[in-house]
Amino acid sequence: MSDNIVLLSGSPRKNGNTDRLAAACIAGAKAAGKNVTVFRVADMNIAPCLNCNACFKHPGVCARKDDMAEIVAAILKADAMIFASPVYFFGVSAQLKTAIDRMYVLLKLGMPVKKAALLLTCGAPLIEAADPSIAMFRHIVSYQKWREAGIVVAPNLHEPGEIEGRPELAAPKKIGEEL
Ligand SMILES: Cc1cc2nc3c(=O)[nH]c(=O)nc-3n(C[C@H](O)[C@H](O)[C@H](O)COP(=O)(O)O)c2cc1C
Repeated sequence: MSDNIVLLSGSPRKNGNTDRLAAACIAGAKAAGKNVTVFRVADMNIAPCLNCNACFKHPGVCARKDDMAEIVAAILKADAMIFASPVYFFGVSAQLKTAIDRMYVLLKLGMPVKKAALLLTCGAPLIEAADPSIAMFRHIVSYQKWREAGIVVAPNLHEPGEIEGRPELAAPKKIGEEL
């Protein structure tokens, strides 16, 4: 069981469907006594990775000085991660992808994270719209030798709050409890 969870939420829309999916997961985790540190990456100043490889010379130290440092510090104390995002043109949001790319700073140092979950919302009526995002997540999980701790896709969502009362809110709560 995880004690420290870091959740990166990638929707720019505050209290939108992705935030609500994430909130269900956070509620489950907190009810089970876990610490959850939530970062709404769209509200943070996080610049893209430059592939300068400075972090390979100085593991854990990024040449870019911005809000990503806060996330990196939290990941270094985390045993689990949750990624939440709306599907944007079949991928995760650019804001979330930018933060994920910046996790490159931890590749040489290594992360204490052991497992990860993925929460996605999309407008399409079929969950296949989320397949490329799921593929990306699974490659990261396998590359990092993490355990996949759950994937939830909530389709057919457009207006903020449309997800309320939907059955898809049950699965993230359970993932949070069991992570
Ligand atoms: C720029 C943009 C691109 C989108 N691309 C897709 C897409 O490729 N497939 C899809 O099913 N929905 C797409 N959507 C719809 C969102 O994924 C969906 O409305 C989601 O629930 C929004 O999450 P939010 O309420 O957290 O903002 C897109 C929305 C935006 C704004």
